[in-house]
Amino acid sequence: MKKVNAIITAVGAYVPDYILRNDELSRMVDTTDEWISSRVGIKERRILKGEGKGTSDMAVEAVKKIFAKTNTSPDEIDLVICATSTPDHIFPATANIISDKLDIRNAHSFDLNAGCSGFLYALDTGARFIESGARKKVLVIGADKMSSITDYTDRTTCVLFGDAAGAVLLEPSEEDSGIVDSILQSDGFGRVYLHMKAGGSVKPPSHETINNREHFVYQDGKHVFKHAVSKMADVSVEIMKKHNISPEELAWLVPHQANKRIINATAERMGIDKKQVMVNIEKYGNTTSATIPLCLYEWQNQLKKGDNIILTAFGAGFTWGAIYIKWAYDGDK
Ligand SMILES: CC(C)(COP(=O)(O)OP(=O)(O)OC[C@H]1O[C@@H](n2cnc3c(N)ncnc32)[C@H](O)[C@@H]1OP(=O)(O)O)[C@@H](O)C(=O)NCCC(=O)NCCS
Repeated sequence: MKKVNAIITAVGAYVPDYILRNDELSRMVDTTDEWISSRVGIKERRILKGEGKGTSDMAVEAVKKIFAKTNTSPDEIDLVICATSTPDHIFPATANIISDKLDIRNAHSFDLNAGCSGFLYALDTGARFIESGARKKVLVIGADKMSSITDYTDRTTCVLFGDAAGAVLLEPSEEDSGIVDSILQSDGFGRVYLHMKAGGSVKPPSHETINNREHFVYQDGKHVFKHAVSKMADVSVEIMKKHNISPEELAWLVPHQANKRIINATAERMGIDKKQVMVNIEKYGNTTSATIPLCLYEWQNQLKKGDNIILTAFGAGFTWGAIYIKWAYDGDK
């Protein structure tokens, strides 16, 4: 029997309408467009406005695009995985809420939290369900409403993040394409450098935690920066070597979008040209679990069947990894 591979058959994404530009941020905190552009590479980011709107609402819009493009009906979906660090609620899982809002009734669904590496972890998990034959149509979603956990009085973090959702549909194929391999890693030594101090079981919400502004992203940027570059480059090079892909044979590197300097340094260490790297951080900032599917969505018309693509990310945990994909279809079919 031929091996069953998991292939991506469609991509969808959604960004909210409201654009928060560097100029507006410079009126909120002591920062400048010049500092943000040169140190991070971001010009603007999207913010989800509206009472009662959460991560699930953006994810639903991303998945609707997949349904429309592929003529898939909700009852065909048999698994929904949502990678997020900003769930609608601590429970139930945001994937359950997305499924309900989309009328997906024949699937099991769950959330997965691996910080900014969430989409990679979710894609790998979804692929295993397909490869084992256990599931046939799997939605893998990366969605985050980072504005809900961003402290807009802290200039060191509030310039970095934005809101967005992206999703892919995974299906089985006997063709020699799809999710070929993955290297996923984590090391909890890094948990103190990028985390939320309160709101979980160790330190439940209280007047004190709110007064101390402990329900926001806390980051030691320098530490995270150093590890992000070396870890993303190391695993990307490792997976290329393992599959004998030379830099010239790589069609695209799709890196997590946290800082343009991190992306450039990673590409340089991998020996690849900037033209081979998807970068849209200037428009959206760091949307955590959504950055990679949002890139795939924006570049989908340029993707060709057989393209060698490497996805790589680094995030809270620390978590990091790389996934090697052989793209399964031409352009925007
Ligand atoms: C956050 C980050 C952009 C900060 O850039 P940096 O060059 O390391 O900047 P530093 O933290 O060293 O700060 C340098 C100076 O700029 C200041 N600064 C920080 N944010 C600023 C802002 N928005 N505007 C103006 N000045 C700012 C600092 O206060 C510091 O001033 P000082 O030297 O007087 O103390 C960068 O460290 C980074 O991208 N880290 C990794 C992020 C990441 O990958 N996350 C991964 C997953 S989410």
